[in-house]
Amino acid sequence: MNKKMKGAVLPGNSTVEFREYDVPVPGHGEVLIKTKSSTICGSDIRAIYHEHLGKGPEGYQGVIAGHEPCGQVVAEGPGLRRFKKGDRVIVYHISGCGVCNDCRRGYMISCTSEEYRKAYGWQRDGGMAEYIIAEEKDLVYLPDELTYTDGAQVACGFGTVYEGLEKIGISGNDRVLVTGLGPVGLAALMLSKAMGASMTIGIDVIPERLEIAKKLGLVDHVILAGPDNVDEIRALTDGQGCEKTVECSANDKARLTCIQAARKWGKIVFIGEGGTVEFQPSPDIIHDQKTIYGSWVTNIWRMEELVERILRWGIHPEDLVTHRFTLDQADKAYALMSSGQCGKVAVVFDEEVR
Ligand SMILES: NC(=O)c1ccc[n+]([C@@H]2O[C@H](COP(=O)([O-])OP(=O)(O)OC[C@H]3O[C@@H](n4cnc5c(N)ncnc54)[C@H](O)[C@@H]3O)[C@@H](O)[C@H]2O)c1
Ligand SMILES: [Zn+2]
Ligand SMILES: [Zn+2]
Repeated sequence: MNKKMKGAVLPGNSTVEFREYDVPVPGHGEVLIKTKSSTICGSDIRAIYHEHLGKGPEGYQGVIAGHEPCGQVVAEGPGLRRFKKGDRVIVYHISGCGVCNDCRRGYMISCTSEEYRKAYGWQRDGGMAEYIIAEEKDLVYLPDELTYTDGAQVACGFGTVYEGLEKIGISGNDRVLVTGLGPVGLAALMLSKAMGASMTIGIDVIPERLEIAKKLGLVDHVILAGPDNVDEIRALTDGQGCEKTVECSANDKARLTCIQAARKWGKIVFIGEGGTVEFQPSPDIIHDQKTIYGSWVTNIWRMEELVERILRWGIHPEDLVTHRFTLDQADKAYALMSSGQCGKVAVVFDEEVR
């Protein structure tokens, strides 16, 4: 094994910097993973790539970027209890203290320990390098039937979406509206279909993204974002609106569309992060008995459950990947993702290079 490796860091001025690191050695309860696929999330662009916006849990600390890593265990630290060399693994992308209430619920994302909570690619080294050190407790098995690029997407995007969809509940009773068809919104469409939604509708401002959703067969209807969206959705749903709506853009107008285009008694989940929204509580939610949920990433047992169900449903998250780059092209990968002219963008290694 090489002693040195290359890693990508995001200085916060829409560029990527490559640095050389020693290949790290796993400590107690840790594994060394050979990275195979590392996908880019909209949050990386919003809070790190253009400028370092985040504070607290979103504060980027100049580490190796990438919070959606997937790979194979190549070295074991002492004291491992379950995982071993050769295992294919997804990394739940936040390492928590393990003993606060949020960690005990499996939601390391909202771990309350200032000292021990560290997200991969934000406060500890992430997936944009040839190797990554992870704690055993942060790992989820990747079955042989799924590719490493399938797995990388579960690490944040699909896990996040599955959590949101489980909060509002999706079944064959539901017509589902998704606003914002970036990788998160596309995942929301793919999982809604798999969970049995009887109709899916997607909205975006970028025509290319509407095309990707159509080409992948994830939507029954696409609508270009605009002032008449609520009327357009009612026209497609017998004047009623959608039973479930999923907001994945963070845009204030799209948020309002999700609220107003939800049917009476409907459920709305906000996944897109940042920004604001203005609505009138009485006509928009109270009198129509609607519920708005907020949803932040997921817990680790639900991530395991999602992997099991992805297999059963026979879907492949990697189908959302429209572009693959090698690590030395990571600058092109981030630039493309920030342009929005793409589906999911992956930085890939070894057998994942195609
Ligand atoms: N809640 C969580 O735990 C969580 C986890 C991961 C990502 N996120 C957030 O989810 C969002 C989506 O992530 P992504 O990777 O798909 O990002 P993205 O930026 O690629 O996708 C956002 C999409 O919204 C579209 N959009 C903008 N204005 C719109 C409008 N008025 N109507 C409809 N669509 C509009 C954009 O064109 C874009 O395609 C981001 O805000 C990201 O930070 C949240
Ligand atoms: Zn993310
Ligand atoms: Zn904790």
